[in-house]
Amino acid sequence: MTVFSTSPGTRDILAPDAARWRQFQEVFASVVQDAGYQLIIPPMFEDLGVFLRLGEATEVVTKEMYDFEDKGGRRVALRPEQTASVCRAFVEHRPTTPWKVWYSGPNFRYEKPQQGRYRQFDQVGIEVLGVDDPLLDAEVIALAATFFSRLGLKDVQLAVNSLGDDGDREKYSAALHEYFSANLFQLSEESQITLQKNPLRVLDSKRREDQVLINAAPKIRHYLSADAANHFDSVLRALDALGVKYAIDDRLVRGLDYYRRTTFEFVSTALKAAHTAIGGGGRYDGLVEHLGGPSTPGIGFALGLDRTLLACDAENVFSAPNTNVSVFVVDTTGGLHAAEVCNLLRNNAISVDRAFDNRSMKAQMKAADRSGAMIALIIGTDEVAAGHIIVRPMNSGQQYAIAQDQLVAAIRSELQK
Ligand code: HAM
Repeated sequence: MTVFSTSPGTRDILAPDAARWRQFQEVFASVVQDAGYQLIIPPMFEDLGVFLRLGEATEVVTKEMYDFEDKGGRRVALRPEQTASVCRAFVEHRPTTPWKVWYSGPNFRYEKPQQGRYRQFDQVGIEVLGVDDPLLDAEVIALAATFFSRLGLKDVQLAVNSLGDDGDREKYSAALHEYFSANLFQLSEESQITLQKNPLRVLDSKRREDQVLINAAPKIRHYLSADAANHFDSVLRALDALGVKYAIDDRLVRGLDYYRRTTFEFVSTALKAAHTAIGGGGRYDGLVEHLGGPSTPGIGFALGLDRTLLACDAENVFSAPNTNVSVFVVDTTGGLHAAEVCNLLRNNAISVDRAFDNRSMKAQMKAADRSGAMIALIIGTDEVAAGHIIVRPMNSGQQYAIAQDQLVAAIRSELQK
């Protein structure tokens, strides 16, 4: 018989890690909701056209899209990220601006799976539509930094850059094209192809043979319009005022084509592997228009949940929360009494589990131990006859009998010790 396992690049997240994921999302929710962001839950698949707006020269579009024709003949794609979906939702629902939203959930990219790089991976993120103010850029960046420190991460570096406005990008792109074309054969074959599609993307190459040329390439800062340069300057001043540490990285072009002006990326220096970016984002003024909406500025970020948790492991912070039940019921009389006691405790909001299959006292006590519960309740024929239940605190072992109608109060006081 075929035995199935997960597809390449996907994983089962089991306990205790699954509880850690949920906690991660809860901490993120509390950070961004306290800053006025509202949850949005976009669908996991959309018309392929929505994601084609991410750029024809991005690998996310050309190589990694999970797109297919559905049974109704529609060309759809599993979302590779959520910024495009948020912009599509903005155009569809026309909410009042500023529209501040946050999201959390899986995304899909057909990448080469390895540690920290998966085909299904989770992101949490925020997007703001309708605000041009550089102080918002600083707020968005600062929120990501706050979240990382709320997790307990210390070895996180922030790189920022400005890609300028449309016109600036074009001029810079032409300058890069000229520069790389003049040195074409020093570039890797892959980068030679990338050059023809989008010269900016060449800067993103991690291939060793490209690095010398890339390091000496023209810098975007010399191509910024006065407006874009002022905007960037204001962002940096605001980050300074907020005490957010950063380094300017001229080569930070990011992997998606929609970015304009401010871009940024967070890297974990605790991660040894190549995939150290734990989050990134930037402005994407123009994307809403590309999706058929009115001219609307936008900015946001997404943080990779999987990768950020790897960084937490590397720094030994943000461990899995305790999800053990408080009480475990051992019933050697057939199990019905355990059912009644569980019901009573659950109705009183006390977490409780039990053993099934009428197993031996020894087996049930073992299960109680394994459950991590603080208290075992023991019900045997003598206890039933006397209308009692034995309460055994698992760490002290000093057990005592209690009448059933005093059980809830006794457990509450036991749990407070
Ligand atoms: P991105 O840089 O493509 O940006 O992804 C953001 C983060 O998601 C990355 O820094 C990384 O931590 C994580 N990530 C990406 N791909 C994978 C993967 N295959 N496996 C594991 N983790 C991954 C965006 O997605 C933009 N939508 C961010 C944004 C929001 N820009 C503006 N607003």
